[in-house]
Amino acid sequence: MKYAVFGGTFDPPHLEHISIMRHLLSCGYDRVIALVTGNPPHKHCRTDGAHRLAMIKAATAGDERIIVDETELNNPSLRYSADILPILKDKYGDIHYVIGGDSLIDLHKWSRPDSVVKICPLVVFKRGDNDDRLLEAKSYWEIRGAKITLMDYQPRDISSTLIRYGAMLGVYKDVPQEVEQYIRSNSLYSKYDDVKAELKLHVKPARYEHSVRTCECALRLNYYCKLNLDYDKVFIAALLHDCGKGSSQFDIAKANKPLPPDADDEDRQRVESVVEYDLSAVPQDAIGKPVEHQYVGAIVAKQLFGIEDSEILDAIRYHCTARENMSCLEKLIYCADVLEQGRNYDGVEELRQLIKMDFNAGFSACLDRGYNHVLAKGGKMYYLTEQAQRFYNGK
Ligand SMILES: [Fe+2]
Ligand SMILES: [Fe+2]
Repeated sequence: MKYAVFGGTFDPPHLEHISIMRHLLSCGYDRVIALVTGNPPHKHCRTDGAHRLAMIKAATAGDERIIVDETELNNPSLRYSADILPILKDKYGDIHYVIGGDSLIDLHKWSRPDSVVKICPLVVFKRGDNDDRLLEAKSYWEIRGAKITLMDYQPRDISSTLIRYGAMLGVYKDVPQEVEQYIRSNSLYSKYDDVKAELKLHVKPARYEHSVRTCECALRLNYYCKLNLDYDKVFIAALLHDCGKGSSQFDIAKANKPLPPDADDEDRQRVESVVEYDLSAVPQDAIGKPVEHQYVGAIVAKQLFGIEDSEILDAIRYHCTARENMSCLEKLIYCADVLEQGRNYDGVEELRQLIKMDFNAGFSACLDRGYNHVLAKGGKMYYLTEQAQRFYNGK
């Protein structure tokens, strides 16, 4: 019996994991061993192993050709492939170890790579367009005794990180239904539930939905444009970017309107908490204008949500007007706000395509479009937008 060993944190397992395993089974392997890794030295995996094990079991249930193996999970001392593969070889016999193309290129950085390549043959998936480096690595290791098969199959670029952050938003994509169910019923990835609950109280439902879509868009751009920004910062900045807008309680307090006659204690409490905001940092020239909400947002994010990180606060503070010399996070939130899936203005699809290919070109085009939109409406341009347009688009 020929076994393919496919290891992963499976945090969570996604559709491409399943496709890879099915592909291996269609290529002459009798069984695939889904090896649940413990706490890999090169990855920060915070989800409990028992949950990850349960998810991969749920995702592969019903296919007896896939064996979920927990050897590594149950033995925290087995941290490296060089330790675990001999045990699997004893247990199963004819094993072949499946790795990604970039892993083969980086094999020299592994622990004891010379012994890894002698334990069993390697099966390598091609990845991206780095084939020259891949072939170079292949012959380098073959000279050292490795048996390497290149698989002509390029896995789809699906990210477990994106799936986890999506799940934090309540958005599930690219996971088997059983995994989604497991995540929901065990409240995995619920780190920001309190922030979401507070935001839901604070803004109207349509604004909340727009915030969720903006957050999803920002997370995806961070991944696919390879911006390498901290996912937590992206998540919070995008989710809260409009927290200064459309808050009915805030509007009541700001306009100094009396509470409606049917207001209950809860309404009164909310209004009282809102009027405590110190709004002195809102510039005079922004008060009463559409841009006001970005400044109010930064204040609400700090005072109500306890955000102290200045990069996050700046991304909220300038998400509407833009400005000169923006940080990458500021640009990202600006773009995600105007490109999220709910937007359907003329040209939005072209902007989405452009930014995927070139983030900075996409940002400049979004800025240009925003600038022209204000002009077309006959609105007065805010000075920061004028400056940003000159700075980034030279006009
Ligand atoms: Fe906004
Ligand atoms: Fe927005």
